[in-house]
Amino acid sequence: MEKITVPDIAELKNNGRKIVMLTAYDYPFAKIIDDAGVDIILVGDSLGNVVLGYENTLPVSMAEMLHHFKAVKRGVNRALLVADFPLSGFRDGFANVKKLVKAGAEAVKIEGIRHLPLIKQCIKAGIPVMGHIGFTPQDIQKFGGARMQGKTPAEVKCLIKEAKLLEKTGVFALVVELTSPEATRQVTEAVSIPTISCGAGPYANGQVLVLYDLIGLTQGKIPSFAKQLINLSTLTKGAVQQYVQEVKK
Ligand code: KIV
Repeated sequence: MEKITVPDIAELKNNGRKIVMLTAYDYPFAKIIDDAGVDIILVGDSLGNVVLGYENTLPVSMAEMLHHFKAVKRGVNRALLVADFPLSGFRDGFANVKKLVKAGAEAVKIEGIRHLPLIKQCIKAGIPVMGHIGFTPQDIQKFGGARMQGKTPAEVKCLIKEAKLLEKTGVFALVVELTSPEATRQVTEAVSIPTISCGAGPYANGQVLVLYDLIGLTQGKIPSFAKQLINLSTLTKGAVQQYVQEVKK
């Protein structure tokens, strides 16, 4: 299997092939999903809510991100490996990006356009950046929850402006999260870089999901758009209950 690189992601779009992206947070799942053929593995700051039990992504520290990133790195041979940049990292932005790159990140994902100076600094230094617009979970307080974006023509115009600005800055791909399908379609048409939908409908060049939502490991509510193809929580509970019974006997 050939290693996937940043230019390959544009190539997938140009060849009309959908880009498949999933999150991972540890070595075994990284290895399993890499072997299964995903194109991009993101060590998302969703680490905070799905693995570490925080209420949202905001408390994730650089140390936590680096710890999980390094474990994932050891399991990935083929997929493009992207590190999410956690909110706590921005104070010493570029120094923290370099820590992720030193740990093996092939690109970093930075939410929103607020951090454009850091995005520019990374790109100038040759570090590929993936953008992220629409609902940006690090702004959950501002949005007042996970609210759909791009519902009015004015909002769509604003999303297109952000997407074009990020494209001009040099990001190589764009996650578009929780926007209306029509907004995603218009954003995808407005830029030449690949767009990757996260609960933003089918009109993008690829799709991303939180792995734990897909395999039923997320504890509590999963987003309504998330596709759950297996329930590992139920299967694991059943296996452990059987083990408990067998030992007790
Ligand atoms: O943190 C994350 O997992 C993400 C993706 C869902 C896009 O940002």
